[in-house]
Amino acid sequence: MPNSILVTENELKKQEKIMKEIAELNKNKNLFYHIETYGCQMNVHDSEKLAGMLEKMGYKYTENIEEADVLLFNTCAVREHAEIRVMGRVSQLKELKTKNPNLIIGLSGCMMQQKTMVEAIREKYPFVDIIFGTHNIYKFPQLLWEAINSQTTIVDILEDTKNVIENLPIKRDNNLKAWVNIIYGCNNFCTYCIVPYTRGREKSRKPQDIIDEVKELAQKGYKEITLLGQNVNSYGNDLDEDITFAKLLYKLNDIEGIERIRFMTSHPKDISDELIYAMRDLDKVCEHLHLPVQSGSNKILQRMNRKYTREHYLEIIDKARANIPDIAITTDIIVGFPGETEEDFNETLDLAEKVRFDAAYTFIYSKRVGTIAANMPDQVDEKIKHERLEKLIELQNKISIEKSAKLKGKTVEVLVESISKRDKNKLTSRTRTNKVVHFVGDEDLIGKLANVKITDTKAWTMQGELVEVIR
Ligand code: SAH
Ligand code: SF4
Ligand code: F3S
Repeated sequence: MPNSILVTENELKKQEKIMKEIAELNKNKNLFYHIETYGCQMNVHDSEKLAGMLEKMGYKYTENIEEADVLLFNTCAVREHAEIRVMGRVSQLKELKTKNPNLIIGLSGCMMQQKTMVEAIREKYPFVDIIFGTHNIYKFPQLLWEAINSQTTIVDILEDTKNVIENLPIKRDNNLKAWVNIIYGCNNFCTYCIVPYTRGREKSRKPQDIIDEVKELAQKGYKEITLLGQNVNSYGNDLDEDITFAKLLYKLNDIEGIERIRFMTSHPKDISDELIYAMRDLDKVCEHLHLPVQSGSNKILQRMNRKYTREHYLEIIDKARANIPDIAITTDIIVGFPGETEEDFNETLDLAEKVRFDAAYTFIYSKRVGTIAANMPDQVDEKIKHERLEKLIELQNKISIEKSAKLKGKTVEVLVESISKRDKNKLTSRTRTNKVVHFVGDEDLIGKLANVKITDTKAWTMQGELVEVIR
């Protein structure tokens, strides 16, 4: 057994022991925690693990940060905007600390993987008790213990790790739909992106560990899983076993009780025919592909180091649509990447018109220190970036509305998720293509699959009428 794994097993036992000790210390104390999560689903799921550990240590969740005894901010570094929001929030916390001197404030996640950020926080906000990164969340109990027993800021950041940590306690936010990590990290180094620096190199979980987790979820009554990775299509490349992402989907499709399988994110350069056929042939794998294109200009794609052309991207879309009828395709697009001319941007608009995405997450390029693009010369003017974003959003909204309108009058399968937040008489459900449908129905339908006739549509949400309950 490699040494690193042995060390980790001992480490985990140590953390277990500390969790018990803190739980003992907290007995009968009625203590609360609150976690604020920024960024992507990876972070959302990491927060579920932190919550799992906190609950094991005797803390209960509170919505109200004023009431918290442990307050965590799980941060994101993908765009400057996310960082500014976190810094703003943290600057307001000093007051809370004065009110409750026992309050422990912790910062974790991608922002903390940047040395300069950690230095800035230590200097500006010395009242922060714990700073840790993305590679060592399993060590949180120990860091909490140290923070409880010390007056200085506890800082613990690993640059990267080869370890894949299994069996952390998880407190999931939802009891029907679950996030399941399959691969951590990213090897792609798109020139604009900070993620490879904050999440390290690709590390796949072993297929059996994933299967065991999904079986357990099925037993607990979960109906839907979403497989998570920065690039799920490179799943297995780093394992000795004969496994690919598509093969993993076949194995997971066999697990009884799970009704729907989703995944994100896919990188166009790694989409295989095998995956498209798996999506076509596997009944539980939903007809939705999130396939970030980033730009419609070959020049910009090359400067972004995306390793595909617009022609190749369009080919994948054609193949997906030919094999998987009614598939929903969503994407991410960045405007204002360094060197993007009006002509390049028009190619993005043109690609968006050609593909007709069901939805697009659109972003203004944000300079990230340490990435290659940050040092590229021809950075685009802020005003132009905003104008381009608005134009793109306007076009995409029109397309999203038109695409959803096509569903009017049709009957679609939905999974009923909850009572609607807006209208208590209605239920909120999702189609296999991940669109939201509200319809009048009984609370007992939550967790069931049903056929619903669509009566009215907007860009991503729609109204419907119950036709029949499937199961
Ligand atoms: N691994 C995924 C998602 C990564 S981050 C993927 O490869 O698609 C999510 C999205 O944020 C990216 O798809 C990209 O569109 C956007 N993004 C990443 N870095 C950015 C930056 N520096 N400025 C603006 N948007 C960025
Ligand atoms: Fe970032 Fe590119 Fe990796 Fe996605 S594939 S996380 S955009 S470097
Ligand atoms: Fe943000 Fe880190 Fe996710 S930078 S987008 S939280 S991987």
